[in-house]
Amino acid sequence: MDKSQKPVNKILVATDGSEAGISAAEYGANMAKKLGAEVVAIGVINVHKYESIAHTFTGQMGWLSVKEKFMKEREKEVTGDLNKVREICERKEVHCKGIIGYGYPHEEIVKYARERESVRMIIIGGSGKDFLGRKILGSVAEKIVQEVTKTLPCPVVVIPCKIEMPGARLDF
Ligand SMILES: Nc1ncnc2c1ncn2[C@@H]1O[C@H](COP(=O)(O)OP(=O)(O)O)[C@@H](O)[C@H]1O
Ligand SMILES: [Mg+2]
Repeated sequence: MDKSQKPVNKILVATDGSEAGISAAEYGANMAKKLGAEVVAIGVINVHKYESIAHTFTGQMGWLSVKEKFMKEREKEVTGDLNKVREICERKEVHCKGIIGYGYPHEEIVKYARERESVRMIIIGGSGKDFLGRKILGSVAEKIVQEVTKTLPCPVVVIPCKIEMPGARLDF
């Protein structure tokens, strides 16, 4: 392949709409700007969560409409999260594409990066929506980091949340 056809390197920013995810987006956009790369923002709908909700559902709606309602609500939510990343990138004049994944968040994020050679780095927050003030890595973050020694051919960068870590240095 001649060099002019080489796809632009991508930085995969995983976001769950949390403050940490936003910090990850800021860092990713700053880095993409410096490196002449593009951002791909990914938000994953944990469809398996629906299954556990469905088991406890006893209302009048049919299963299918409950599932449709769940998916529509989540898609709306994730689209909003991805738009926040896009706005951050736009302000820095960095190209950004949004992707919605369906499945377990860590699996979908890792799969996307593994299967696309242009993805050179994954950026995630150290915590997410379920942060409860604990001082350990979030469960999705931990599983993604673990994949570095198993199936991931690119680095993972874990970002401190600027709300949890005032003075976090995200201006790469
Ligand atoms: N559903 C998701 N879609 C995309 N990225 C996610 C998702 N869940 C978590 N992440 C990424 O992983 C980071 C850490 O989140 P997580 O490990 O779930 O922590 P917590 O347990 O505090 O929610 C987030 O800041 C985000 O970058
Ligand atoms: Mg979480």
